[in-house]
Amino acid sequence: MSLPEEIAKRRTFAIISHPDAGKTTLTEKFLLFGGAIQTAGAVKSNKIRKSATSDFMEIERQRGISVATSVMSFEYSGLLINLLDTPGHKDFAEDTYRTLTAVDSVVLVIDCVKGVEEQTERLMKVCRMRATPVIIFINKLDRDGRDPFDLLDELEEKLHISLRPMTWPVGMGKTFQGVYDLDQHHLLMFRPGGVRRTEDVLTIEGLDDPRLEEQLGSAANALREDAELINGVYDKLDIEAYHRGEIAPVFFGSAVNNFGVQEMLEAFVRIAPPPQPRPTDLRDVKPNEQMFSGFVFKIHANIDPKHRDRIAFLRVCSGKFERNTFYQHTRLHKQVRFSNPYSFMARSKEVIEEAWPGDVIGLYDTGIFKIGDTLSEGEAFTYRGIPSFSPEIFREVVNNDPMKSKQLDKGIRQLTEEGVAQLFIKEPGSKKIVGTVGELQFDVIRYRLEHEYGARSTFHHLPYYKACWITTNNPVKLQEFLRYKSDHVATDKDGNWVFFAESAWILNVSQENYPELRFHTNSEFKTEQAENAQA
Ligand code: G4P
Repeated sequence: MSLPEEIAKRRTFAIISHPDAGKTTLTEKFLLFGGAIQTAGAVKSNKIRKSATSDFMEIERQRGISVATSVMSFEYSGLLINLLDTPGHKDFAEDTYRTLTAVDSVVLVIDCVKGVEEQTERLMKVCRMRATPVIIFINKLDRDGRDPFDLLDELEEKLHISLRPMTWPVGMGKTFQGVYDLDQHHLLMFRPGGVRRTEDVLTIEGLDDPRLEEQLGSAANALREDAELINGVYDKLDIEAYHRGEIAPVFFGSAVNNFGVQEMLEAFVRIAPPPQPRPTDLRDVKPNEQMFSGFVFKIHANIDPKHRDRIAFLRVCSGKFERNTFYQHTRLHKQVRFSNPYSFMARSKEVIEEAWPGDVIGLYDTGIFKIGDTLSEGEAFTYRGIPSFSPEIFREVVNNDPMKSKQLDKGIRQLTEEGVAQLFIKEPGSKKIVGTVGELQFDVIRYRLEHEYGARSTFHHLPYYKACWITTNNPVKLQEFLRYKSDHVATDKDGNWVFFAESAWILNVSQENYPELRFHTNSEFKTEQAENAQA
């Protein structure tokens, strides 16, 4: 097949949700439809036990599983679908944010009882940053949830996106009878347990069809009123606006009962975008350019500590990737090639000869990759927009064994390159400050430093609220601030200045006192800088 045909065939996306909304269950149903797994329950183990805070074996086991399920590829309806897994545990949220840079669209799962939750808002914020198209699946309709109109209001308000319901529930919880497809005019009757029979799908001639009464009884009229209200209040789905991330189609269903899932999958293959152009520091790169390029969005250490090699996950963005071919590693200005790149078809790793835009490939990494690195065949550009977010928990790393300081340095450097945590260096004394989004990462770091690098360390708690990157056009003011706050500033891995604010109040006061400086809570400001430089 030609490059444009290969591109047109691919859809690369992620399912995201607040923990417990049903992401794993929905993933499993998608894979069942795609024939990638045969039995329910196969994906279930892909979760860190929710109470686990220090169960190292569990963490290790999960690392093994999460390599296998990082990318799940399957064919459906003539398309090749790459589903990128995102960790469920909130302490690994940053890993999820990075994975979102490698997809072309997402499916967001909402629990109809809980509505918008904390992690839902954060994830959507990340989607909005790059205008990622979103399909929403409102799940658990077999439970007594909130009124669907109230849910939609809440979604629009808190997620800052317009909506268009594509299906509509008839009843909920004990009175749940099914969903009505507002577009195709199907009535889909609910059967708990997910056994779908042909007679469960009723094609009707619009909402005036008297068969609605036969099926739904008195709920038929309520459905008619709801449908009228929907068509009056919500605009029709404009696919281009969906592709721009402005409007999200909404589906209702029950993942565990496999109900309403196929309808959404069918819509997904109809409307979800194929691989899209991506910004680099030089220009936007289109997938159908002949020259290969791609970027690393995730690095995974080998779970066997005897083997230090790692796996870098690379998203192909343009052209055709080929095995055993030299490509330019743009950060290192070095030609590199890979003899065993692999793909993830049907949960098994396979060495591949070639890969196309939208594909994610695993590359053995002997330590040459950092998250965000670009490989390219021609121009030396770098893909932009792999953000770091301000960590929320900070600890100073103290070496317990002076004989092992080299090992500790190497371990910390490699773990932070993998994206497990962020490292800041504070002077005087080159103190190492590690920042994470969750407590669990410190357990992972301590355990891995000891078991993989033989370095024992202690972490001292630091009472910071946020680390903010500082930018300015006024070097004099910057120096003044750095002197004034010398106890609370450090540099990040790329040498950028970072301010450790102890509270939101201190951050506000600092901003008021230094209007010439800008404080950023995520590293996307580099994108702004590049844009300013171009302007
Ligand atoms: P997550 O990956 O987003 O964290 O959620 P997951 O799919 O694991 O689902 C969380 C819980 O919600 C699971 O129950 C799952 O069975 C349940 N669930 C998913 N979809 C539905 C649905 O449509 N209706 C209802 N009633 N429940 C649903 P659990 O008790 O935590 O796990 P399990 O014992 O069922 O495996």
